Amino acid sequence: MFSTLLVASSLPLLAVAQSAASLAYTPVYGTCPSGFTLVRQAGSSAADNQTLNPQEAAYISARKSNVLPNAWKTYLSNLEATNASLPSYVSDILSNSSSDTAVYPNLGIACSGGGWRATMFGAGVLNALDGRNETAVAFGTGGLLQAAQYVTGLSGGSSLVGSLAQANFPTMEVLAFGTNATDPTHAWGGWLSQITQQTPYTNATQNNEYIQLLIEEVRGKSEAGFAVSYVDLVARDNGRHFSNGTDLDNFFDDSLVHGAGYTWSGVANVSTFVSYEQPFPILVATLLSPNGNMSNVIPNSSFIIPISNPIMELNVYEMGSYDPTLAAFTPMEYLGTMNESICVTNYDQAGLVMGASGDWNTYYNTSESTLVSTSMYTMIEALNDTLPQTNIVLDGTLFPNSFHGPATEGTFIDAGETIIMMSDGGSDGEAVPIQPLLVKARGLDIIFAIDANQDWANEYWSAGGSLVNTQNRINTLFPTAYSFPPVPTNTSEFIAQNLSTRPTFFGCDSSTEAPLIIYLANGGPPRDGETSLTNVAPNNVTAEQLQAFLDQTYTIATQGNPANVSAAADPEWPACLACGVVDRARNRTGVERSGVCSSCFDRYCWNGSTYGL
Ligand SMILES: *[C@@H]1O[C@H](CO)[C@@H](O)[C@H](O)[C@H]1NC(C)=O
Ligand SMILES: *[C@@H]1O[C@H](CO)[C@@H](O)[C@H](O)[C@H]1NC(C)=O
Ligand SMILES: *[C@@H]1O[C@H](CO)[C@@H](O)[C@H](O)[C@H]1NC(C)=O
Ligand SMILES: *[C@@H]1O[C@H](CO)[C@@H](O)[C@H](O)[C@H]1NC(C)=O
Ligand SMILES: *[C@@H]1O[C@H](CO)[C@@H](O)[C@H](O)[C@H]1NC(C)=O
Ligand SMILES: *[C@@H]1O[C@H](CO)[C@@H](O)[C@H](O)[C@H]1NC(C)=O
Ligand SMILES: *[C@@H]1O[C@H](CO)[C@@H](O)[C@H](O)[C@H]1NC(C)=O
Ligand SMILES: *[C@@H]1O[C@H](CO)[C@@H](O)[C@H](O)[C@H]1NC(C)=O
Ligand SMILES: *[C@@H]1O[C@H](CO)[C@@H](O)[C@H](O)[C@H]1NC(C)=O
Ligand SMILES: *[C@@H]1O[C@H](CO)[C@@H](O)[C@H](O)[C@H]1NC(C)=O
Ligand SMILES: *[C@@H]1O[C@H](CO)[C@@H](O)[C@H](O)[C@H]1NC(C)=O
Ligand SMILES: *[C@@H]1O[C@H](CO)[C@@H](O)[C@H](O)[C@H]1NC(C)=O
Repeated sequence: MFSTLLVASSLPLLAVAQSAASLAYTPVYGTCPSGFTLVRQAGSSAADNQTLNPQEAAYISARKSNVLPNAWKTYLSNLEATNASLPSYVSDILSNSSSDTAVYPNLGIACSGGGWRATMFGAGVLNALDGRNETAVAFGTGGLLQAAQYVTGLSGGSSLVGSLAQANFPTMEVLAFGTNATDPTHAWGGWLSQITQQTPYTNATQNNEYIQLLIEEVRGKSEAGFAVSYVDLVARDNGRHFSNGTDLDNFFDDSLVHGAGYTWSGVANVSTFVSYEQPFPILVATLLSPNGNMSNVIPNSSFIIPISNPIMELNVYEMGSYDPTLAAFTPMEYLGTMNESICVTNYDQAGLVMGASGDWNTYYNTSESTLVSTSMYTMIEALNDTLPQTNIVLDGTLFPNSFHGPATEGTFIDAGETIIMMSDGGSDGEAVPIQPLLVKARGLDIIFAIDANQDWANEYWSAGGSLVNTQNRINTLFPTAYSFPPVPTNTSEFIAQNLSTRPTFFGCDSSTEAPLIIYLANGGPPRDGETSLTNVAPNNVTAEQLQAFLDQTYTIATQGNPANVSAAADPEWPACLACGVVDRARNRTGVERSGVCSSCFDRYCWNGSTYGL
């Protein structure tokens, strides 16, 4: 200790030396590996030359052959233990022990945005699908999470999916509350939801000092020549909540890195990823662009991004979009790289990637006075005072534009920009991250869509607005690139038909190749009469509140849509869920829907069928 002080005082220049967190957050320049490709052209489904990243394809292929057959078998045995009387095709499909994986359902799960509410609601639903939760196993829904190929997250859902992946796919209880570890500076410490993000103190002076601390943690990145924005500060705060290394005891220990240096590409090294046990995680953001066609912003809404801007996905291997207007990707590990000789690493900090998906505070193209009136403005001002920058949008997430130049010229609206920006995935009106699950090269046929976004006026309930907007985007802009089953054309219809207060299947009778969507929303109080806990928008929740929220969400996720309208729950829901999950596979094997599955479909399917009427 004494010698450290001595060194510090005898070398005054080191007094402004960067903190450990700043060093760990700073991107690093190096020589590109041989054979490095900056931009991967992803092709188009219409031209029949669409491809997945080879590493992703290898992951999914290994997961399908090494992990999923047993996962489906376990899910089936959980279901059968409830003595549900299922048609034999359900067990035939889920227990096919042959080496042909083509018969199995191809399942993806989408976790919506909606702040802490969505993070918690998503976790509560995943609890009900988790084969490690003995209550869910006994009920007959546990095991489905383990059988999913993909899980996508957006905004509040990206905090869930991002933390789940990097914490090594723990149970939801461990994810929410952390583990006691011998080395808490490297282990998963839980979400620490009791601490308000960005303003962890109740004292304003201390909060300003905290912001200044975050600014110092991005100094290294700035001094290395990279533009930094408000979202870099969010990233450093995210590092404390959604990356390893922080718990309640060390939260305010400024000597620790608090998640700095944990990269999104680094998730590929956690043991459950190495063994293909995780559903492949994808986070979703939208492109925030000075070149967007603003007449494509959804009219009369609070959304700010035109639906024609590419929807960006950030997966462990790459960042880009399958939208035909970009159809290109750049490697996640080398995010920040602009050419094929000098490669940047360590830019893809997990906290920053989650921040890109969850940056709801973009006021781009709104007025200066709007920006000044936001709580974020204090952070922007402080950042700009300490690390002054000009001609930079300080409220978007900033990435050096790897898609700059001829590779994407002519199709990509930002091909001429040196920086690309992103905003919250929901900023175009689609808070449920479904687009990556519709990519035809991924071949998914069942999407379990969890929606905890707010779209009832003055209520924190969900009413299907995101599905409505996805339908519009696909039908008006990308009708051949993606297939989407018909859903209602507005939220009033969702509300009038109770489609968000109960699980609803969309696409039951679709004659297209669209996947079947199992939609489960935070659309109303639980049927059993408990007081509602999930229609909230908290800045922080205590451990007790978090547990109660998770438990009530579990109730909502397991209540189903009872045939008897006054019943609290549908005893057939586990069977009906299984009927939905296997339905596309059933069609592939040429078997007719029958038995309990027929009555389940009568009860769970949306009976509308036409877009635009
Ligand atoms: C896919 O086909 C289209 C149309 O022929 C072509 O323009 C594009 O370059 C091809 N993309 C790839 C990645 O092969
Ligand atoms: C299922 O049936 C078996 C055999 O009749 C019985 O032992 C078991 O308790 C039943 N399980 C449930 C969940 O009803
Ligand atoms: C089981 O897999 C084989 C291919 O190995 C397939 O031909 C058969 O239809 C599958 N059985 C069922 C019931 O899906
Ligand atoms: C860690 O252990 C302490 C003392 O046993 C306990 O109070 C605390 O709840 C535990 N924390 C977690 C995250 O398990
Ligand atoms: C986070 O900690 C958990 C154990 O608490 C560990 O299994 C996992 O690998 C860690 N994640 C990373 C990215 O190091
Ligand atoms: C939690 O959030 C509320 C509402 O914003 C705030 O009043 C309270 O101070 C916060 N509590 C803590 C411990 O940060
Ligand atoms: C807030 O924190 C500052 C700095 O630690 C301290 O000087 C001040 O007394 C605190 N104010 C209150 C109201 O506690
Ligand atoms: C994974 O770990 C290996 C061995 O430690 C390392 O060489 C590699 O860079 C890591 N990959 C990522 C993406 O962090
Ligand atoms: C912008 O979008 C509108 C509505 O879709 C369209 O009519 C118009 O041609 C577009 N403008 C440009 C420059 O692409
Ligand atoms: C940041 O500060 C510079 C002057 O140093 C100013 O030109 C710029 O407008 C400021 N940006 C914002 C967003 O306040
Ligand atoms: C299973 O889920 C319920 C409901 O959220 C929860 O109370 C319980 O702790 C979970 N069990 C495990 C082992 O995660
Ligand atoms: C399978 O679905 C197609 C429409 O995509 C339909 O025409 C066909 O009748 C279905 N087959 C079975 C056995 O359900």
